[in-house]
Amino acid sequence: MTSVVFISGDGIGPEITRSVRSILNHAGANLTWVEASAGLATFEACGDPLPEETLEKIREHKVVLKGPLTTPVGAGFRSINVKLRQLFDLYSNIRPAVSIPGLKNPCGLVDLVIFRENTQGLYSGIEHWIDNTQTIAQSVAVVSKEASQNIITAAFEYARNRGRKKITLVHKANILKLTSGLFLDVGKQISKNYPDIVFEDLIVDNMAMQMVMNPQRFDVIVTTNLFGDILSDLASGLVGGLGMTGSANIGRTYAMFEAVHGSAPDIAGQGKANPTALLFSSLLMLEYLGKDDLAKRIRAAVLDVLAKGSVKTADLGGTASTEAYTDAIIANL
Ligand code: NAI
Ligand code: MG
Repeated sequence: MTSVVFISGDGIGPEITRSVRSILNHAGANLTWVEASAGLATFEACGDPLPEETLEKIREHKVVLKGPLTTPVGAGFRSINVKLRQLFDLYSNIRPAVSIPGLKNPCGLVDLVIFRENTQGLYSGIEHWIDNTQTIAQSVAVVSKEASQNIITAAFEYARNRGRKKITLVHKANILKLTSGLFLDVGKQISKNYPDIVFEDLIVDNMAMQMVMNPQRFDVIVTTNLFGDILSDLASGLVGGLGMTGSANIGRTYAMFEAVHGSAPDIAGQGKANPTALLFSSLLMLEYLGKDDLAKRIRAAVLDVLAKGSVKTADLGGTASTEAYTDAIIANL
């Protein structure tokens, strides 16, 4: 039996992780769930948002399914999500956005995948005050050749293995000449090894407009950490919202699967969160574990429920609870 570290997380985390675990169990995924804790609730309970015990479980079992973790705004501890990605060198953040029949497609049908560099950029955690009176602050963006090579190669390999045709590298090298410039240079170099795949680069502000006006022109997108974060929420908006997009964080040894969205404190505890994003993340996990057929079967059950349209959560315009929606998927497996 394969074991998976299971972190239920903050806000809507417990509701959606319970739903996903139940669907996977009913589908016969045959996984051993190793419970571990992290995040704001863990911090409030034991004074540490990422206990050593949790890290040990991840080192041992290597694969994690994680609910969203709240990060205090402004002061307080740094993001545990970012810390986990950095600690376990989960350098590829893979975020597919695929339109689903029966849902709103405000910009037409979309089928794209964002590869977000997951360990550096403006998420380096290097921030300081310039002056003693704290009126000027500075954040340092770190971009290394090696990390750029890792994520850009991962994107090209993915494109080649999945029969995708084009890579769009997104940057701001006109302004950030060194950091974004290095990322772009590495992309141009690597693209020479993949003559079968079209390579283009776009500046991020133009990219944001193009993704709304003409998202069909995009296939695989690769970019640095902050741009990837922002553009992947935008991409979620093209395919039904944050409740619909899953993601994989993959390195050489470890992998962690989580939704693109956060802990949604505005709807937490109300039983109305959409578990699909985390469920799609768990399907990426099943594929990672070599259970492709099972992932396909679960996805088909979800698409069927959404296509029929009578059982939908509130974010998709329906009235179903998380639990009713979960039951409908299980009944459809
Ligand atoms: P958010 O993604 O939690 O919520 C944004 C909006 O989308 C809210 O209106 C929310 O209700 C809605 N939404 C999100 N997921 C949904 C779902 N599954 N079903 C229905 N509606 C959903 O972003 P926000 O509010 O900016 O951040 C809240 C907290 O989450 C912050 O502490 C942030 O740091 C954390 N966060 C954690 C992430 C992670 O664990 N990887 C990722 C993003 C944010
Ligand atoms: Mg985000």
